[in-house]
Amino acid sequence: MCGIIGYIGKDLTVKSVDLGIEALKRLEYRGYDSSGFAFWNAKEKKIFSQKAVGKITSLEEKLDYSNTDYANPIILHTRWATHGGVTEENAHPHCDCHQNIWVIHNGIIENFRQLRRKLESEGHRFSSETDTEVIAHLIEKYFKGNLEDAVREALIHIEGTYGLAVIARDDPDKIVAARLSSPLLIGIGNDEYLLASDPSAVIARTKKVIYLDDGEVAVIGRDKFSIIREKKPLEIDWSQSDFDKGAYPHYMIKEIMEQPETLENAIKGRLIPDEGNARLGGLDLVEKKLRAVNKAYIVACGTASHAGIVGEYMFEEYAEILTKTEAASEFRYRDTLLDRHSVVIAISQSGETADTLASIREAKSRGVLSLGITNVVGSTQARETDAGVYTRTGPEVAVASTKAFTSQLMILGLMTLVLGRQRNMSRVTGQKLAEGLQRIPELAARILKSHDQVQELAHKYKDYDNLLYLGRKYSYPAAREGALKIKEIAYVHAEGGHGGETKHGPLALMCPEFPCICIVPNDSVYSKMISNIQEIKARNSPVIAVATEGNTEIKNLADDVIYIPDTLEPLTPILSIIPLQIFAYHVAAMRGCDIDKPRNLAKSVTVE
Ligand code: M6R
Repeated sequence: MCGIIGYIGKDLTVKSVDLGIEALKRLEYRGYDSSGFAFWNAKEKKIFSQKAVGKITSLEEKLDYSNTDYANPIILHTRWATHGGVTEENAHPHCDCHQNIWVIHNGIIENFRQLRRKLESEGHRFSSETDTEVIAHLIEKYFKGNLEDAVREALIHIEGTYGLAVIARDDPDKIVAARLSSPLLIGIGNDEYLLASDPSAVIARTKKVIYLDDGEVAVIGRDKFSIIREKKPLEIDWSQSDFDKGAYPHYMIKEIMEQPETLENAIKGRLIPDEGNARLGGLDLVEKKLRAVNKAYIVACGTASHAGIVGEYMFEEYAEILTKTEAASEFRYRDTLLDRHSVVIAISQSGETADTLASIREAKSRGVLSLGITNVVGSTQARETDAGVYTRTGPEVAVASTKAFTSQLMILGLMTLVLGRQRNMSRVTGQKLAEGLQRIPELAARILKSHDQVQELAHKYKDYDNLLYLGRKYSYPAAREGALKIKEIAYVHAEGGHGGETKHGPLALMCPEFPCICIVPNDSVYSKMISNIQEIKARNSPVIAVATEGNTEIKNLADDVIYIPDTLEPLTPILSIIPLQIFAYHVAAMRGCDIDKPRNLAKSVTVE
């Protein structure tokens, strides 16, 4: 793989080419197929460059010692071909049209084709097939005499990964270096600095190093250096109209009704149904690490933690990853069994929930990979996790989370595909899951049509002060979420639990004044849940069943039935929660509650 070396110092007579080549040789073990260097000759006031295909010895054979005496600064590189064949033209350094800017680069510039087309249309001439060369021309485009300014401007337009070093004839007393997901460090010597992609390359001259972090740009001069932290502008994909209630009386019902669209947004451009897979760009950078994961902790609060339980079941069933969902407020204070094969996945609509953020920080402090699922672009969670996926839900204004929950479930479905296909999930299984996800938005739209029926049920049950929500397996987290909804906005005491646990205590509460909402889709635990309903009915509790369309048997058992369309078992919570959101909304409205701003609650809980 590619290697980077740089040298700059006060003493212009230091044999920097020799020491640079020696350092380059220490990177040989990483593998490479060509090498090269460029240096500023401080006496002749010129940049000289040399490249060679093959071993570093080929480069040495080409060395012209007549101009190397005042080589300072110098940048050197070993290339392992990715874009373009193994040729001298494609070896680094690459330069701009006027041989002013010289660049070496590790990583991949993903949008180099678009950038190259644009730069060519502006008159830039390219001499290699590499992605790296666009960096030199972009810097040229923005260069007005100060190299770091031009590099920083160029980096705004680059998508991909990089560890890079740049020198310029017209701003010669510095090396500018930048890093994004490709290691780079500065070795601090006596009146000299080295730059390297690997510490083994600098230890011959110094053991004092500073590692650059992602997003940092270093300006290394002859007797000092500085590090600038770059902040790329982010595009917030929300418009003012997203914050309007429109014709709806409350944000909550508007957000419930938006779900077919938000569910579609979550998967748009991400599903690959034919391959039974998904493409989540936000996880690309950690793909290798993800393959090595065998244990996941999902950390979240409230609604997001209910989504987490669905994710837990899916990851274990499809991706064979041991997974645990934990309230972030617990996780952060426990001695969890994190190791180097663990991943911590934070789920948060706002990306600002204090306990969830603390959990990520805990994971990071223990060197564990952290991922985030969030709605808010640029939120603290999005910035602090190693990688992540946005839910693309649009602004959620109502305190009660509705559309964010179902989007989180969609993303967990996509992540299950990615993780599963990295492991043993067959293409056929992946295809089924992908097709299931693809159909969800349309099925959600169908459920919304039963709005009036659910409203009638809300009217029938609005005066009960206690409710029990039950489900098994994937319907268990949906039961908890249904209970949370009515609890927070209608101030009705409600609990969500496992159907199979009722006989271990909750049955004692069952009576005509204590209705039970039982989620009983046609799934692998259907008959078990039916038995639980029978036990409840025997104690005279009214039962509202959420069942799969076409199930007539349930009508003989439950007092009322809400039907949802058939889907794959792990996707049922995305559908079953929608009528429960509508139910909670109408009960709250009928009880005269302040739906969008329930008492004592905040949308974003930024304190412990
Ligand atoms: O922004 P977050 O998703 O991190 O928020 C987590 C919880 O505070 C949130 O889901 C809360 O439970 C909602 N009010 C539920 O409707």
